[in-house]
Amino acid sequence: MDDLLPKFVASDIAIFACPVYFDNIPAVMKNFIDRLTPVLVPHFEEDEMGEYRHAKRYEKLPKLAVISNAGLPGQTNFEVESLFFKRLARTFHTELVAEIYRGEGEIFRGKNNIMLKPLLGKYKKALRRAGRELVENQTLSEKTTTELEKPIVPESLYIKFGNEEWDRLCEENKVD
Ligand SMILES: Cc1cc2nc3c(=O)[nH]c(=O)nc-3n(C[C@H](O)[C@H](O)[C@H](O)COP(=O)(O)O)c2cc1C
Repeated sequence: MDDLLPKFVASDIAIFACPVYFDNIPAVMKNFIDRLTPVLVPHFEEDEMGEYRHAKRYEKLPKLAVISNAGLPGQTNFEVESLFFKRLARTFHTELVAEIYRGEGEIFRGKNNIMLKPLLGKYKKALRRAGRELVENQTLSEKTTTELEKPIVPESLYIKFGNEEWDRLCEENKVD
């Protein structure tokens, strides 16, 4: 952490990127976050909502952003993560400036599929726009957020083809 802590403190925005594992962030990322403790001082103080937290060590800490991928469709898979990063921003006396959550994540395995290619291309274009907005304005527009949250294919289709692919993989590997 010795080399990462100064980089974290000196950043304008810290972007956390991770898959969803059982409704939450993976343990390796949680370990990293837990070891950011020295960016605060141990003393307690009351915040503007009457809750307590550790006091600031630095005048300014980076704003936070999160980009995450889940295998299942739908935005509810990110509920725990979203609350966690909101709380983390509060803990670090900073703001959560962007949340980019992509369900139907397995779809990216089909990036060479002739049907999926244009749909994934459209998504990636919106993602690049989000990156530009974040750098230029330190926030995401409503339009870009809405576009990034739309299902890439209808959920029923994703479930059907996803399960067929699991059947194929189970058969190939002789497992249930
Ligand atoms: C142990 C494990 C747990 C998972 N749990 C969830 C889950 O709760 N919800 C979900 O939508 N996807 C879940 N997934 C799917 C992953 O989010 C998805 O496959 C992701 O692309 C995996 O990224 P990785 O290849 O970098 O590990 C899980 C995958 C694994 C391996």
